Amino acid sequence: MKMLKPPISRMGGKSKLRKQIIELIPKHICYVEVFFGAGWVYFGKETSNTEVINDIDSELINLFKMIKYHEEEVSRLLEYEIFSRDSFDYYLNQDSKYLTEIQRAVRFLYIIGCSFGAKGKHFGYGATRKPTQKIFNEDLKVIRDRLKNTYVENLNFKTLIEKYDREGTFFFCDPPYWKTCGYDNPFTWKNHLELKNTLLNIKGKFLLTLNDCPQIRELYKEFNILETEVMYTVSKSEKGIKKHNELIITNY
Ligand SMILES: C[S@@+](CC[C@H](N)C(=O)[O-])C[C@H]1O[C@@H](n2cnc3c(N)ncnc32)[C@H](O)[C@@H]1O
Repeated sequence: MKMLKPPISRMGGKSKLRKQIIELIPKHICYVEVFFGAGWVYFGKETSNTEVINDIDSELINLFKMIKYHEEEVSRLLEYEIFSRDSFDYYLNQDSKYLTEIQRAVRFLYIIGCSFGAKGKHFGYGATRKPTQKIFNEDLKVIRDRLKNTYVENLNFKTLIEKYDREGTFFFCDPPYWKTCGYDNPFTWKNHLELKNTLLNIKGKFLLTLNDCPQIRELYKEFNILETEVMYTVSKSEKGIKKHNELIITNY
């Protein structure tokens, strides 16, 4: 099976770890991806009977909804866009409350695709790399088809988990790392405690990934903890390779 590539990048995306995670997914009826981001695991795995994707970021979720329901119009509006500082500033300075949902999706796709580190804040130019070629993603139709039978939710993790929890449900949880958040919605220690307490009482199964640190090991000590290494490039110009340890935590 060909693994799909998400249409956007997202900090903390599981591109390097997805193969390993997918191999560990148990038998299930309903697959729920609680912290979707760019959704590397969802786009890599086989489809399940029922699928749910969720993120608290309403702009991100709006993008996937618009690809699901209005892919042609999103593609049309992006077809002749070019990678340029003027266009970047134009989109960045738009106030999304005056845009339609389709326009918001186009804006989000453009500024994420053309910014440094996909953070949507600064124009991603460089003296040692070529301009990005990826504003218009030709695979949006494939992404649309993949999303066809998926529920797309924009809820806080606790509400989502409680809504979909059944014996046959499998939750993949990839929350922001402890102490290295950087998303628009902060994820505090209180959130980590709440997530653990929610997962403690579920009927379904879960697999959670987090950065390896003593507080997280202590928090999840009653579950199965597998350690794994992830190699990543520090910066394309420096060509540096670093590694960090990640924990894969399961209740099965
Ligand atoms: C580490 S990223 C997920 C990356 C994703 N697995 C991928 O492959 O791209 C964490 C995501 O959690 C979302 N998030 C943060 N707080 C949340 C909350 N309280 N409930 C649901 N999602 C949340 C962020 O918006 C972010 O997209």
